[in-house]
Amino acid sequence: MSLVTQLGDVVGAAFADLGLDRSLGKVVPSQRPELADFQCNGAMAAAKRAGRAPRDIATDVVARLEDVPMLATVDVAGPGFINLTVTDAVLANTIESMHKDERAGLPSSEERQTVVVDYAGPNVAKAMHVGHLRATIIGDSLARIMEAIGHRVIRDPHFGDWGFQMGLLVTELEDQYPGLPYFEDPLPETFPQESPVTLEDLQTLYPRASERASSDDSFAQRAREATVRLQNGHRGYMALWHHMKRVSEESQRADFAALGVEFDLWYGESDVRDRIPSMIEALRESGAAVESEGALIIPVATEDDNRDIPPLILTTSSGGYLYSTTDLATIEFRVKDIGADLILYVVDSRQANHFTQVFRAARKGGIAPPALTMEHIGFGTMNGPDGKPFRTREGGVVRLADLISMVKSAAKQRLDEAEMAAEYPEEERDAIAAKVGIAALKFGDLINNRTSDYMLDLDRFTSFEGKTGPYLQYAAVRMGSILRRAGDMGLSSGAIVGTEVPVERFLHLELTNLPEVVMRAATLRAPNHLADYAFSLSGSFNRFYDVCHILSEEDATIRSSWLGLVETCERSLRLVLGMLGIEVPPRM
Ligand code: ARG
Repeated sequence: MSLVTQLGDVVGAAFADLGLDRSLGKVVPSQRPELADFQCNGAMAAAKRAGRAPRDIATDVVARLEDVPMLATVDVAGPGFINLTVTDAVLANTIESMHKDERAGLPSSEERQTVVVDYAGPNVAKAMHVGHLRATIIGDSLARIMEAIGHRVIRDPHFGDWGFQMGLLVTELEDQYPGLPYFEDPLPETFPQESPVTLEDLQTLYPRASERASSDDSFAQRAREATVRLQNGHRGYMALWHHMKRVSEESQRADFAALGVEFDLWYGESDVRDRIPSMIEALRESGAAVESEGALIIPVATEDDNRDIPPLILTTSSGGYLYSTTDLATIEFRVKDIGADLILYVVDSRQANHFTQVFRAARKGGIAPPALTMEHIGFGTMNGPDGKPFRTREGGVVRLADLISMVKSAAKQRLDEAEMAAEYPEEERDAIAAKVGIAALKFGDLINNRTSDYMLDLDRFTSFEGKTGPYLQYAAVRMGSILRRAGDMGLSSGAIVGTEVPVERFLHLELTNLPEVVMRAATLRAPNHLADYAFSLSGSFNRFYDVCHILSEEDATIRSSWLGLVETCERSLRLVLGMLGIEVPPRM
């Protein structure tokens, strides 16, 4: 049990003693660390209910806590805060149990749930661009956090591979290469193994097709018809579709690998295609779906809406399925086949309306049972220096692969400037630069509140100073190298004992916060709490290390306790960085 939970129980018991609610005893880290270690704000809440002055209640609670052995001091402050300071021994014991625990005291959530994290979601025919970066980074971190606290996590990118964009591509290709076997009538028995298009082809075909569709009605109509034919399994279109899908997935997989991101399912919208007809039939029969101007829709607006929520379109008048249709069928799949309890959709905030429609329709149609929780985890934009969404100098979309190589070379330059890893083999320096670059990118993103926009600033992100990924990697490497040097000197760690050194005590306190920070990040779906924590933990460690000269300390008990502290810090920092998807090079 974490220290704040233990304290909360003790303080809660004092509230209960006074006939007040036990939960009022909740304890949090102090907002004024110079005054106390922890605080409880329960007297303020109790006052309203009990009709008494908060200070009086706080005084009564404090009177009941005076003899608690784990507390060094307990007193009332301000309007009725209860300030608590634990003894050095309690603190040292808490760190000692973290030290012994491989998970460094990381909490396990009480109920193991199956959590589907739906993130990244690139569409077929497009290389990943910077727009997918935030979804990938945030989604991956949330998946890691949920897994770290004991949930069963299923990562699913939900590739966009079954909608109108496929019809657009087919039609554009048919116009440009009418001789391809996929368009013959009658269709040949077999089709070529070789893809008729490369990713580069698709990258030019797709914008041209969508441009044409917006200016040319008959082209758009043909693309809609092609979409329907594809969705109905036209053999030639399907063969072509497989090629397009494979070509783009290959490049997407490479981008994900460069980011250190892995999925459990590599599914897309198309993977639920066989469920769609029966799902639609059931929705029609139950009355959830109704006919409207030739289309089949699910009305989802409610009286309390303060904005217009249009109905979800299940089938268009030409008989095609849309993005929402596949999303609904995917919920059915996740509930029935995966046993999902919670689905997190890590998708741009601009899709908020889409998810409102899908979630409501899923409830209304009985696809999402009451026990299933569905959340849209929105996020803001990554902007360029001009405050507008990040683009190339020419105003084009930046390919993710290009951004990744940009950030790697920026990291390499930083290493050169700092003369870091200078004597290592070139290959190792490249590997370090790659890890540093990716860490810079991920941390630069995750440190922000996810709903805010932020500015991509490679210069700042790759710095080894300040709130950056590379600074944290360096801190973790430094902890490791202290331990290695200690090993070389034949020194080992021992039980953690409390000392009077303020920076050390502060580091102890900082470490005890780890379990709560992890839970907060998980509950709020907010990795930035962990990013902040990693930074303050590293700072506290560096301050401790400046003052306490571990390896030259002569008192063996203190020295081995300090080594134990370094081990605990290293493990904790690595755990947190792991949850942020940041890798630490073996040395740098
Ligand atoms: N492919 C979509 C896009 O590019 C993102 C998919 C998000 N996930 C979902 N289940 N709708 O916008």
